[in-house]
Formats: sequence, structure tokens, C-alpha cells
Amino acid sequence: MDDLERLAADIRRADTVVAFTGAGISAPSGVPTFRGDDGVWEHFDEGQFTYGRFQRDPEGFWADRLELQRAMFGDEFEPNAAHEALAGMGHDGTLDAILTQNTDGLHGDAADATGTDGTTLLELHGNARRVRCTDCGRRTDGDPVFERAADGELPPTCECGGVYKPDVVLFGEQLPGAVIQRARELARESDVFLAIGSSLVVEPAASLPRLAASPEATVGIVNLESTPVDSTADVVCREDVTAVLPRLRSLLEE
Ligand code: APR
Repeated sequence: MDDLERLAADIRRADTVVAFTGAGISAPSGVPTFRGDDGVWEHFDEGQFTYGRFQRDPEGFWADRLELQRAMFGDEFEPNAAHEALAGMGHDGTLDAILTQNTDGLHGDAADATGTDGTTLLELHGNARRVRCTDCGRRTDGDPVFERAADGELPPTCECGGVYKPDVVLFGEQLPGAVIQRARELARESDVFLAIGSSLVVEPAASLPRLAASPEATVGIVNLESTPVDSTADVVCREDVTAVLPRLRSLLEE
């Protein structure tokens, strides 16, 4: 039995299966990753995107944020075979939850295309397609607001006069309490926890696999590069997500 067959066997036996994803799952769709050669943080300074900067200098923050959005999400992109495999597993009832660090909305697109509604999707870092008013709290589609900002409305504001913030968790900002609490519960409850396409160095990515790692649970990693969790994981696949996840789904269908 190879590693993937073992993973499939554990998933078949499991009550709760959780996938935790990072930028690597969207890389084959053309969205850049954060770390490594040509990663976003090679070209941008993380310090430009802190919550403190947003509060101090919303105009400068928004000017830089537009550049980051163009670099990350400038091209048209769609879910790839890995997003589709996870959505398919949700549809088949073999995956209970997707916890993602990604703000690109691609898991939601794949779920909509597949008609999956039984899988919990937690976007831990928010969704970069939306903006949120820092005064009235209204959330709205980001595109018209990004256009206004690109046309010179810096910072863009809501009808109530409040400044809009991208609906993502910035550096120095707390993850919403209810979201992180649910993510921790799901990690603890999981019989199989699969970390996919993440370097697992940023919190909560670094600690969720540890919460999942009870003696009875299976922790699997699918990532091109090694991660700090590999040495304690039960299964490590150092392969492309678009090769591994469709294969895993096919094994589960056998
Ligand atoms: N298949 C498998 N793994 C891949 C692929 C692929 N096709 N492409 C890239 N990877 C792996 C890389 O080897 C890398 O280890 O994906 C990982 C992506 O790591 P990061 O760029 O660090 O992304 P992530 O873990 O999601 O970053 C976490 O850091 O800066 C913050 O807020 C940002 O949400 C982000 C968080």
C-alpha cells in the first residue's frame, strides 16, 4: 500500500476529515505564493500591509494594496484540479471542512461549480474580493471599490463616510475569534487532517496540525517543499497538488 492508498483508507474509516490549504493550492491556477523564489514577499515589503499602517496612513496603504492585488489577482484565474478534487470530495461526503488561509475565493468557486453545500468552508484570512467598512461594518463586493481607488479615490469610503478596508486579516490584526475557535475545534475533532500547499510557518497554520495530531488521527502533508510539520506527520507527499488530490479522490471512489 503506498502513502496515498493509506491516506484513502484512513479517510474511508474517518468520521471527520479536514483539509487545511495555503497558497500552494492556488499556484497552479496562476496565483503567486508568498514565500520562496518569486514569492509575493520577494517583491513587496510585508510592513506595507500591516493593520498599523492602514490606520496611520490609509491613503498610502490603499495605493500599495492596489499594486499587491494586481500582482496577486491581476490575471483571470479559475479553480484548478486540486480545488475541484476537494470540492468533489465534499460533494461525495468524504470531506467535512476546508480551512483555508487563501483570500482568493477559489474554494468557494469550486464548491459553487460542483454544487457542494455540505462542506464547511472557513476563510481564515478573509476574502480579498470583498471590502468592509471600518465604521458601519458593511461588507460589499470589492471590484467597484477597487476601480474607484484606482481612479484616485484614496482611501475609498463607504456611503456612511467610513473608510473601506480589504476584507482580509492584515498583519498585526487578530483573526476573528469565532473563526479561529471553530478552526481549532475542527482540527481537534479531525480523524484525518490534510495540510495542502502551505509552508506551515505562519500562525495558525503552524499550530493547527499539532492540535490535530492525536495518536489516533492521521496528519497528512501535500506540499512541494518540506515543512516544519513533516517530521511528525503520518504521510508526506512532496508532489504537485494537482497530481495528488485528483488521485486521492479517485482512490476514494474505488
Ligand atoms: N503543489 C504543492 N505545493 C506547492 C505548489 C504546488 N503546485 N506550489 C507551491 N507549493 C508550496 C510551496 O512549496 C510552499 O511551501 O506551497 C507552499 C506555499 O507557502 P507560502 O507561500 O508560505 O504560503 P502560505 O503557507 O499559504 O502562507 C501563509 O502567510 O504571508 C502570509 O497571509 C499570508 O496566508 C498567507 C500566510
